[in-house]
Amino acid sequence: MRKGIILAGGSGKRLNPLTECISKQLLPVYNKPLIYYPLTTLMLIGIKNILIIINPGEEKLFKKLLGDGNKFGIKISYETQKAPEGIAQAFLIAEKFLNGDDSVLVLGDNIFYGDNLIKTLKKACYSNNSATIFGYKVKDPQRYGVIEFDKQNIVKSIVEKPSNPKSRYAVTGIYFYDHKVVDYAKKISKSERGELEITDLNNIYIKKGNLKSEIFGRGSAWFDTGTHDSLLEASNFIYTLEKRQSLKIGCPEEVAWRNKWIDNNKLESLSLLSKKNEYGKYLKDLISLENN
Ligand code: G1P
Repeated sequence: MRKGIILAGGSGKRLNPLTECISKQLLPVYNKPLIYYPLTTLMLIGIKNILIIINPGEEKLFKKLLGDGNKFGIKISYETQKAPEGIAQAFLIAEKFLNGDDSVLVLGDNIFYGDNLIKTLKKACYSNNSATIFGYKVKDPQRYGVIEFDKQNIVKSIVEKPSNPKSRYAVTGIYFYDHKVVDYAKKISKSERGELEITDLNNIYIKKGNLKSEIFGRGSAWFDTGTHDSLLEASNFIYTLEKRQSLKIGCPEEVAWRNKWIDNNKLESLSLLSKKNEYGKYLKDLISLENN
């Protein structure tokens, strides 16, 4: 079974002073910590065994929030990233955890939302593709890894933060790989910015003709919450949708319950942790509304 990795390390310097003393993945996006969103994305795909890679010294905080995953009916383990040396470093850190299995890596500051999105991700998860990445049309591709397509619309290459982007399709922060990814990660060297680039890893798969790309369509939303503005935009987006629909986005308690990984009693006890607010009430009401 494919295993999940959430990369929640990194210096978060672009978010200072917010991240002066707390990891960015623990910052709020409206009513939940940021990490709840990528975590529930993995849970919605059906991933139950997850490694969270964090900065040294932050284990206590993450464990207080998520524990060993048991409260969500999943298994969470932790490893530290001693220095923020790039996304591809995640696979060196995760080698023991993966133990030769396929993986899905999601960046801890990425939020995905959309009607067909989970279906698209599930397709990649349960396919035999060696590697699958997901593109999303943006107005500022220079900020990201950018996909260059050939005439048949097949990915020709990916360029990290190009000054002259060859398309407007950014590579989003969710990646599916086969077991070879760890060996490939060992082969790449640091870029000019001193990082093991995920783009270099993807380009290895492209050269071997083994990378598939999918596009998240216009009905979906993707946020990389690495800046003050994008963090607020994500909060506003979640707030608007949740208020309008009376549904919660990125709620691991709900996903665990809907997946039947936890029962009514467990959900009710989790609701008590937030009993003084509308989050707890939402969890409690899930059970009674389902029964009506
Ligand atoms: C990283 C990757 C980039 C990708 C982006 C998605 O950028 O290097 O290829 O498009 O995540 O969020 P960084 O966060 O390092 O700026």
